[in-house]
Amino acid sequence: MIGAAKAGVEVSITGLGVKVPDRIVTNDELSQYVDTSDEWIVERTGIRQRRIASDDEALSDLALPAARDALAQARLAGSDVDLIIVATVTPDMAFPSTSAIVADAIGATDAGAYDLSAGCTGFMYALAQAYAMLAGGLAHRALVIGGDVLSKILDWTDRSTLVLFGDGAGAVVLEAASSQGFLGFELGADGAGGANLWLPGSGSRKFDDPDRFVKMNGREVFKFATRILVQSAEDLLAKCEVTIDDVDVYIPHQANMRIIDHATRKLGVPSDRVVVNVDRYGNTSSGSIPLAMADAVADGRIGPGKLVLMTGMGAGLTWGSALLRWTKEAAA
Ligand code: ACO
Repeated sequence: MIGAAKAGVEVSITGLGVKVPDRIVTNDELSQYVDTSDEWIVERTGIRQRRIASDDEALSDLALPAARDALAQARLAGSDVDLIIVATVTPDMAFPSTSAIVADAIGATDAGAYDLSAGCTGFMYALAQAYAMLAGGLAHRALVIGGDVLSKILDWTDRSTLVLFGDGAGAVVLEAASSQGFLGFELGADGAGGANLWLPGSGSRKFDDPDRFVKMNGREVFKFATRILVQSAEDLLAKCEVTIDDVDVYIPHQANMRIIDHATRKLGVPSDRVVVNVDRYGNTSSGSIPLAMADAVADGRIGPGKLVLMTGMGAGLTWGSALLRWTKEAAA
């Protein structure tokens, strides 16, 4: 699906918070668990370290502090929020949803709350849904959280997946804005490619111990990622009638530096406009884009009036792009 935002309905991000686990795991440390090396990982992926949750740390332990910071930035209380979406493939448990756990913890007693599963693209799907709920008048203040603790579902003896991922979460508040915010979204899914990145033993089809870890066909995912990051972004830019030169900040999903470099080159984005933190966090799945967004706000690249292009892709296979004019000011 693809759509440009309706003229006159302005929805934007008014608060942003992120949280990663304290524990830093370097490539050298991983080489104690599997046959790999810092040199191989840096050359093939650009990843130097990642954050890994402790045994008793679950998604909501990251999502909550991120949500609280986002609410504080938006000058809202939890009770002001009437919609909570948590995009994740690693909820605390299948049910209750992590969004219901978050709603309870922040006192959002009047909020609709649900989890959303779209792999690493989850944050983009959740942004689109929250935008549509607000633009349609069903909700007024939404909390959108993207986060994963993939370390819990990785096979720590499989070097082909272990080295790629990390844990982290980010949260944003969406509200009616004083000026143009979101310009449009493009979302897609191709289930035919699903088995290239999957967790077979995790649901009603099969719930077996040996299959409870992530399995990936790295080469196929690489081909998909390099194609879709470019195509999704170009389709959305065309739909919104802007060019890549208009984009001030490009936030691609932080999967792999080679994938990011490829997309950047193909799209023709100057490297100083591309946000990269895969070196520090690895691939944090649904946490990837909000974490990168927070970095770009912190270093001053994202600010009022800046045009931000985000594209995620991941398990499903899924993909999604959003175009946003950074506003930060809620409508009076
Ligand atoms: N350390 C050392 N050697 C390794 C490692 C490792 N961690 N992993 C694989 N190898 C070996 C392989 O066994 C293979 O050895 P062989 O030639 O003796 O058989 C060799 O390295 C080359 O393996 P390839 O898979 O061909 O390596 P490639 O250059 O394709 O890089 C990679 C692998 C980095 C996984 C790449 O395919 C990739 O980035 N794919 C995309 C993965 C991705 O981004 N997934 C997530 C995206 S979606 C989401 O975010 C959920």
